[in-house]
Amino acid sequence: MVRFVTALLALSATALATTTCSSSSQCPESKPCCSQYGECGTGAYCLGGCDPQASFSVGSCAPMPVCENKSYTWENLDNSILNTKYLGDASKADWTYSGFPKIEDNNLVMTMPKNSVGTLFANNHYIWYGKISGKIKSSRGKGVVTAFILLSDVKDEIDYEWVGADLTAVQTNYYWQGVLDWHNSANASVTDADTFDDWHTYEIDWTPDQVQWIVDGDVKRTLLKSDTFNETANRYQFPQTPARLQMSLWPAGQASNAEGTIDWAGGVIDWNSQDIKDKGYYYATIGQVDVQCYSAPSDAVSTGNTSYLYTSEAAMESDVEITSNSTILGSLGATGLDMTLGANSSSSATSTGSDSVPTNNSGAVGGAGNSTSSSSSTSSSDGSSGGSSTTSSSFNQGTTASKDNSAPNQNERVLRGSLFAVLVAVVVLVTL
Ligand SMILES: *[C@@H]1O[C@H](CO)[C@@H](O)[C@H](O)[C@H]1NC(C)=O
Ligand SMILES: *[C@@H]1O[C@H](CO)[C@@H](O)[C@H](O)[C@H]1NC(C)=O
Ligand SMILES: *[C@@H]1O[C@H](CO)[C@@H](O)[C@H](O)[C@H]1NC(C)=O
Ligand SMILES: *[C@@H]1O[C@H](CO)[C@@H](O)[C@H](O)[C@H]1NC(C)=O
Ligand SMILES: *[C@@H]1O[C@H](CO)[C@@H](O)[C@H](O)[C@H]1NC(C)=O
Ligand SMILES: *[C@@H]1O[C@H](CO)[C@@H](O)[C@H](O)[C@H]1NC(C)=O
Ligand SMILES: *[C@@H]1O[C@H](CO)[C@@H](O)[C@H](O)[C@H]1NC(C)=O
Ligand SMILES: *[C@@H]1O[C@H](CO)[C@@H](O)[C@H](O)[C@H]1NC(C)=O
Repeated sequence: MVRFVTALLALSATALATTTCSSSSQCPESKPCCSQYGECGTGAYCLGGCDPQASFSVGSCAPMPVCENKSYTWENLDNSILNTKYLGDASKADWTYSGFPKIEDNNLVMTMPKNSVGTLFANNHYIWYGKISGKIKSSRGKGVVTAFILLSDVKDEIDYEWVGADLTAVQTNYYWQGVLDWHNSANASVTDADTFDDWHTYEIDWTPDQVQWIVDGDVKRTLLKSDTFNETANRYQFPQTPARLQMSLWPAGQASNAEGTIDWAGGVIDWNSQDIKDKGYYYATIGQVDVQCYSAPSDAVSTGNTSYLYTSEAAMESDVEITSNSTILGSLGATGLDMTLGANSSSSATSTGSDSVPTNNSGAVGGAGNSTSSSSSTSSSDGSSGGSSTTSSSFNQGTTASKDNSAPNQNERVLRGSLFAVLVAVVVLVTL
């Protein structure tokens, strides 16, 4: 996945002349935060997904809101905020989103209108071990991928992914710090009717010692930390850092994507499918999400109960501390290095440029952005938001990856999901 990030960086750099970043090329002090999408900035770039290994310093990213025991249901979108508005106060908004969510029958429906890049919903409370449960109906159709993943800021990851071409199974996967290993993926069968028509409950039970993927109460897969030890490096390559729950629907089978991606997704998306004709969009439905937080590791340093902080770039379990530091930025110019900057000024989220807040999906905001794409303002309820094709051609190129030494083709195929899902949406937004 690192190679995708790199490819995307190049893309975004071209589009907006942004400063890109990776763990081998950190951000400058003036724009210290490396966002989840590999771009340097302030404000929103320092919040969820800010990568401490690729940022100017480990303290550049804002502290991460601690885990909260909570059940989520959707009578409305009141607990959600556009990714362009959030300043780090998870007590005011449990979720940030981009794309086209809607509420139907008290469910959250993540939609993907024709030619769009779908919807992303990210929880603002980090989880440092816990049991996460989702009552979900996946989307369907070749090329259409639904994802329910835990993703940490250093790209530890635990995934469920539904490939719409196969409604009898869900794919499970994990990563440690974004290092690709195709052995990490496995299918879990889903019995008694399919993943689209029927509700199933998908759980991730994540402790310091193991991960279990549990479907409708049946343990489908167990990953033991002890089995992830890398003797050469003397470390456990196990997901072990605070992670956010991210739910998304995205077009892996977009015609312009790499062949491997399309194959993995079961073929090229049919934008004239039954779902598109009937509803105007592909969709995945979330009925309920439950998060139960587990205790931090017994040897974790705790000086408060507000936020998690990385204390070292190594970003292993022992490099995380629980603190009382605030998670809230004073403005979109603020960073982890100066959290309160601009707190009292009258300038608000609307007055900032593209390196402090990601553009929203209507293309209407984004400061210096205004890139040349002609399709930037077509977003509307009929769903024919354009723009995706302008960017996808660059997804198929791998470039030098800083962490990934071994890169057989198989790996590339496997990593199409997960982080990539999350990346797709925003990169397209950026280039609108
Ligand atoms: C956390 O708060 C302490 C005390 O206010 C401060 O010295 C430190 O710089 C803060 N750390 C980060 C990363 O914000
Ligand atoms: C999972 O199932 C799909 C077909 O539905 C197959 O293409 C893929 O190789 C399987 N993955 C693993 C890891 O077995
Ligand atoms: C184990 O660590 C070594 C040294 O960092 C690395 O080269 C190798 O790829 C790692 N093995 C796996 C399976 O990640
Ligand atoms: C969450 O609930 C569990 C009990 O189910 C409790 O042990 C734990 O302390 C709670 N954690 C938080 C952060 O409230
Ligand atoms: C969290 O911190 C607050 C303020 O310091 C304190 O009142 C409260 O007891 C703490 N809660 C836990 C569970 O430690
Ligand atoms: C903002 O203003 C209040 C009251 O005027 C003051 O107490 C506070 O320290 C100021 N905060 C910052 C970050 O300047
Ligand atoms: C994007 O920003 C524009 C202008 O602020 C706003 O009208 C629009 O509602 C936003 N997009 C979404 C999806 O809310
Ligand atoms: C961006 O686009 C808007 C509307 O098309 C235009 O009014 C504005 O001048 C443009 N800004 C830049 C920096 O090109």
